[in-house]
Amino acid sequence: MKYNILITDILIKDFVNHYKNNFNVDCLWKLGRKIDFSKYQGIVVTGGFKTDKKFLKKFINLKIVSVFGVGYDGVDLNYCKNNKIVITNTPKVLTDDVADLALGLMITLSRKINEAHNFILKKKWNIKPFDLTTSLTNKTVGIVGMGEIGKAFSKRVKSLSMKILYYGPNKKNINYKYYKDLKDMASLIDIMVITCIGGSETKHLINKSVLRLMKPSSIIVNVARGSVINEIHLLDVLKKKLIAGAALDVFEMEPKINNKFLKLNNVLLSPHNGSATFDTREKMAKISSQNILNYLSSNKLKNQVNH
Ligand code: 8YV
Repeated sequence: MKYNILITDILIKDFVNHYKNNFNVDCLWKLGRKIDFSKYQGIVVTGGFKTDKKFLKKFINLKIVSVFGVGYDGVDLNYCKNNKIVITNTPKVLTDDVADLALGLMITLSRKINEAHNFILKKKWNIKPFDLTTSLTNKTVGIVGMGEIGKAFSKRVKSLSMKILYYGPNKKNINYKYYKDLKDMASLIDIMVITCIGGSETKHLINKSVLRLMKPSSIIVNVARGSVINEIHLLDVLKKKLIAGAALDVFEMEPKINNKFLKLNNVLLSPHNGSATFDTREKMAKISSQNILNYLSSNKLKNQVNH
C-alpha cells in the first residue's frame, strides 16, 4: 500500500520524483481550492514554510511532518506533540554548503566582489580605479552558534589566518575562545557570523544593545534565520554607518524583504540560498522521503527532532 503525502512548498519542485518512488504525492502549489487534507499521512515542509497550528489542524490523519531542511522553527512543536505527530529533519547533508555560502558572503562583502563586477559592467574602469576594500587576514570572526554549521565555517576560516571566537548557550570542546555573554564578544570582533538555530530561543538575539557595541568597521553575516536579528535595529545601524555592512541570506519576513534594505549600499542580499545546490537539495529530498517511509511503513524513526 502506498501512503499519501503532501509536499507543501514549490521550493521542492525539482525533487518530487524522489517522493513519488515511495508515495502517492500531491503538491500543494498544484492543487485547487478544494483539498481533502484528511487523506495525508505525511507532509513535507521547508524551513521557511509556516507549519503552524492553523495549517496543521487541517490534517486529521497526519502522522509525520518531514522537514526538508535542518531548522524546524517553522513547525508548531506543541501541536505536534499533543497530537502525536512526529517531526523529522535532514541534518548534516547541508552543513558544508551553508558554511561555504557564509564564507562566500563574508569574502564578497569585505572585498566588494559584487560591486566590482557591477563597476566593470557599468564601464567605470576606464574612468577611475575601484575603491579599496578590507582585508580579512588577521581579523577576528565571532561565530554566533557553534553547532555543526558553525564548526564547518570555523574550519574554513582557519585557513584564512583569522582569529575565531564564539558565542552560544554552551561551551564546546574546541580550542576557540568561548563567550557566554554575546555583548562581551560583540565589541572584539570584525565579523559576526550567525549560524545558530532559529525560533523563540534566539529571536532578536542581535538587537540594538548588541549592534551598538560592534566596531564601526565590523560586518555581520547571517545564514541562520532572519528572526535572529531585529531588522529594524539592523537597518538603523547600517543607515547610520555604526557598522560597515551586512550580508544576509535570511530575512524576518522572507520572501518579503523590508524595502529599506534595497536602498542601502552596505548590504549584500541573498535569497535563502544556504543549502540551495542541486547536489545537497537532492540529498535532502532523498532523506526526507526516507524519513517518512521509515516511520509510516516500519514505525522506525530516523532523524527525529527532539522536542
Ligand atoms: C532550506 C534551511 O533552504 O535547513 C534549513 O533550515 O533553512 C535551508 O536548508 C530550507 O529549509 C528550505 O528547505
